[in-house]
Amino acid sequence: MRTTTAASTDGMEGATSGATSDVLVVGGGIIGLVTAWRAAQRGMSTTVVDPAPGGGAARVAAGMLAAVTELHYGEETLLSLNLASAARYPSFAAELAEASGQEIGYRACGTLAVALDADDRAHLRELHALQRRCGLDPEWLTGRECRRLEPMLAPSVRGGLRVDGDHQADPRRLATALLVACERAGVRFARERVARLALATAADERVTGVVLDDGRELSAGQTVLATGAHGLDGAGLPPGVLPPVRPVKGQVLRLRVPPAYAPFLSRTVRAVVRGGHVYLVPRTNGELVIGATSEEMGWDTTVTAGGVYELLRDAHELVPGLTELPLTETCAGLRPGSPDNAPLLGPTRLAGLHLATGHYRNGVLLTPVTGDAMGELLATGELPEQARPFTPRRFTRRLQEQPA
Ligand code: GLY
Repeated sequence: MRTTTAASTDGMEGATSGATSDVLVVGGGIIGLVTAWRAAQRGMSTTVVDPAPGGGAARVAAGMLAAVTELHYGEETLLSLNLASAARYPSFAAELAEASGQEIGYRACGTLAVALDADDRAHLRELHALQRRCGLDPEWLTGRECRRLEPMLAPSVRGGLRVDGDHQADPRRLATALLVACERAGVRFARERVARLALATAADERVTGVVLDDGRELSAGQTVLATGAHGLDGAGLPPGVLPPVRPVKGQVLRLRVPPAYAPFLSRTVRAVVRGGHVYLVPRTNGELVIGATSEEMGWDTTVTAGGVYELLRDAHELVPGLTELPLTETCAGLRPGSPDNAPLLGPTRLAGLHLATGHYRNGVLLTPVTGDAMGELLATGELPEQARPFTPRRFTRRLQEQPA
């Protein structure tokens, strides 16, 4: 098991062999950090184990809070969790800024989902119908109305959906703010790799912490696996404890909008072009993020010529003027996809072991609600009502019920 793909160089801060915490969080991405922050706020001694905390998929993600524009068939239950988390963002961002002294780039800018040709428009009409069945009612705009809102859009845009509630945050700034908030709340960091979970097999089987790569053990009353796409490979546990999480690669580009070109776009613009999703997320600091490919390629995080080409080709069809902008970065990350693309939140069938992973396309969006749910679980033993449909037991119950 590996907590991240990065190399361990920093050694361990505040954790020694046999060190004991109330809560041990394995994985220091945004989900692990928000879990640790909330646990520490509730008075639990908390340690995060990760060779490079603040890394992970948040270093790549664009940070769309796209509960409505990323709605998919069969994800109606997830929609209510996504909407609840989106509603918490303003107060979450303010609380985190207060706790860390860092802004997270939360921007209530809204989103415009547009269509370029007849097929795209049919797809967008379908999405609109699904949204309306779910009680949402984004406004349908003509191509001309779309261009009135966003003059840089191509003349070929045929129509679009105006979704004023799908906003954005900057995931890198979110990770930095959570790191500082954790430190200020007294969370300890063990900058180490985890070899496996520590399992006690007396009367009942229970997870008692982790064993590090060098053989030392960190023990805890409760252990949370927040390892994103990494690390659910069994970890030496009995079969059926951990549902499978698969890595889904996303390639992302970053451009810079020079002041002379601003405002280039005023809101997130997205489309499905030739079946592939493309989105452009403009930040107030001039960064323009273009994402994202979706590739089932295992652990590969290579940035490919084909990936960059497709993103630029599709983004250029939407907003031709972007070819003038400097390209400042290309990167690729791994989304953690669960079997039903919804997160895995809560207890496993092993005492002392919880999961907070599988957030797939919605990690940044679901950060506030995940922190609240995991904080409540760790402090009281109960998941809040809203999070109960997302317990990992929805996948392992059947295995558990089978005779040995
Ligand atoms: N939510 C955006 C993505 O997964 O690409």
